Amino acid sequence: MKTEQTIRNEIVNRVVEIYKIRKSKEGFIPGKTKIHYSGRVFDENEMVALIDSALDFWLTLGKEGRKFINDFTKYMNMQYGLVTNSGSSANLVALSALCSPNIENPIKPGDEVITTAMAFPTTFNPIIQNNLTPVLIDVEEGTYNIDASKIKAAISDKTRAIVFAHTLGNPAEMDKIIQIAKKYNLYIIEDTCDALDSKYDNKLCGTFGDFSTYSFYAAHHMTMGEGGAILTNNINLYKQALSIRDWGRACYCQTGESNPNGVCGKRFKHKYENLPYGYDHKYVYTNIGYNLKPLDIQCAIGIEQLKKLPAFTEKRKYNFNILYNFFKKYEDKFILPITLPKADPSWFSFPLTIRKNSGFTRKDLVTYLEDNMIETRMLFTGNILKHPAYKHIDYRIADKLNNTDNVLTNTFFLGIYPGLTEDMLQYIIDVTDRFMTKFN
Ligand SMILES: Cc1ncc(COP(=O)(O)O)c(C=O)c1O
Repeated sequence: MKTEQTIRNEIVNRVVEIYKIRKSKEGFIPGKTKIHYSGRVFDENEMVALIDSALDFWLTLGKEGRKFINDFTKYMNMQYGLVTNSGSSANLVALSALCSPNIENPIKPGDEVITTAMAFPTTFNPIIQNNLTPVLIDVEEGTYNIDASKIKAAISDKTRAIVFAHTLGNPAEMDKIIQIAKKYNLYIIEDTCDALDSKYDNKLCGTFGDFSTYSFYAAHHMTMGEGGAILTNNINLYKQALSIRDWGRACYCQTGESNPNGVCGKRFKHKYENLPYGYDHKYVYTNIGYNLKPLDIQCAIGIEQLKKLPAFTEKRKYNFNILYNFFKKYEDKFILPITLPKADPSWFSFPLTIRKNSGFTRKDLVTYLEDNMIETRMLFTGNILKHPAYKHIDYRIADKLNNTDNVLTNTFFLGIYPGLTEDMLQYIIDVTDRFMTKFN
């Protein structure tokens, strides 16, 4: 009889064969093959990791989850990390942890959080979900990031935190933001979902604030299909985030770990005010929590993807520069992406804002590009306040949102993800050139 290992090896070999067959069929036919704005980039290693983990059939977070978060936390030079089932969950857990009664200075209902209306919805939503009030400031033209020069004027005696994303991978002005946060004792959550491997002042984005959050959705810098992570250097913030991710329980043992001593060494020896002495720590709840864990098989894919991240980053930068060098000649028609002098972005995509007197509208251009099989996207919500779901929320606008409204009306982005080849980028250039000749 064959051993399990022999059968596993056979399965792995067949998986590699399938990958090779699929790869051999890949090709680009200009005008026929869709040029996606983003997509997963992988090889046989991710497929084998997934199948291997599936055959283990552990399913819930286990050894792959532990290895992934250790590798990821180390890569990011941070101390504590936890995986989540999405970047949206990561944002929700992170802000909820800052509201936990178990931290020294929790944010309370009614307190204010400074953020931008030019946002991905689930960067913004946790503010509402935690009964806090968003205070909105404008983004800068071209960087699309929170305008750090406007934060100070937006602070009131209720302001407790600044929550923002490094938009499309472009690092926000971290030295100024950190300086203000320190002076006014504000928490910072860096939504790094689109900015993995971007740096500001030679330091990775996501390593400046109290919490940083990541997304491993298929469109992002690396993927598990769906998935996310939270990093922090504060042990208590980590424990509260873990608790909130895992139903709100007090126990901080690994999922599936049931030894009577646990990590804390006293699973049946804790005493909580109204609970009997020794009530199982696994079933003691110290936060109002959720369950936002991913599966182990997702993390198995993540382990392989992380190994490829430096190469992905290089390719993103390369592709971005090709489009930037092309669009420079149309600078009179478009606001090109702007980076701060200390920023070293690993761009998620290539944003463009159509100038007022260009002679065409965003709709004209994106319709033309999409008709020619080139995918485009709007810059997320543009202005979140204009969306139906947000009609009745309480908020405060600290200053005019002129650039935000310009994004809403005139900005879109193209892809630069590592799956785009030189031929594809050349096709984008040729098709765009054809459109632009009408407006010169
Ligand atoms: C800035 C930002 N934050 C959060 C998210 C949410 O991540 P996820 O799709 O993994 O929930 C996204 C989107 O994908 C994003 O672009």
